[in-house]
Amino acid sequence: MQILGIDIGGSGIKGAPVNIADGVLAAERQRIPTPTPSSPDAVAGVIKQIADNFPGTNGPIGITFPGVAKNGRILTAANVDPAWVNFDAATFFSAKLGRPAVVINDADAAGIAEMRFGAGRGIAGTVVLITLGTGIGSAVFLDGKLMPNTEFGHMEVRGKDAETRAAERVREEKDLGWEEWGARVGEVVARLAFLLNPDLVIIGGGVSRKADKFLPVVQSMVKLPVVPAQLQNQAGVVGAALVAAEYAVPA
Ligand code: BGC
Repeated sequence: MQILGIDIGGSGIKGAPVNIADGVLAAERQRIPTPTPSSPDAVAGVIKQIADNFPGTNGPIGITFPGVAKNGRILTAANVDPAWVNFDAATFFSAKLGRPAVVINDADAAGIAEMRFGAGRGIAGTVVLITLGTGIGSAVFLDGKLMPNTEFGHMEVRGKDAETRAAERVREEKDLGWEEWGARVGEVVARLAFLLNPDLVIIGGGVSRKADKFLPVVQSMVKLPVVPAQLQNQAGVVGAALVAAEYAVPA
């Protein structure tokens, strides 16, 4: 079965059909810059454009959102247009796209994909994934089951919102060196370790591709194992499709 997964990010909207059995993309991923302003109508237009490119997939579509998403309704929007807050995104997208749409938090989607096919596969106990991108997202699993909509990217670190110090965007904008930025990420992971005592922390987001440049610094600051995500920046698309596939075949 192939399902279309869409990942709405602060800078780009990505989509691809996903083979549900193995989490592999069935076609090359398409990316379109996130429109400014990132209003619901503008974002739906981009998603429609991506969906029209993959006519082979019909049926439900999985969509990630960079904010709290409960039962398809958006509750927070730190890095996208505030018009999304308290907006029923799932109903809106279903109407705009003419097919059922499932909407979940982007980090939760990435975590689901990593737990099924990536770095968290078969790991029991508490696993935390953080995504480093425009913001910082988090996904928490206990014995493989997600506790949705955690927001550890907004923990306070050194008196500031963690993502304003340690997101990948901050590294780029402030032109921080890998060591310096790695230490900032390490502080976030150390705080998480203190609060949750996880068995494993997975670092996701596109920058996880360059894990060798900053992960040793992060690892030196905590005792628990910290590993890079394996699906890297495809995890959101894959996780979105996995969630939509469950919608398609209710248990
Ligand atoms: C949002 C999270 C999201 C993360 C990554 C944060 O600012 O509050 O919900 O997962 O950014 O996009």
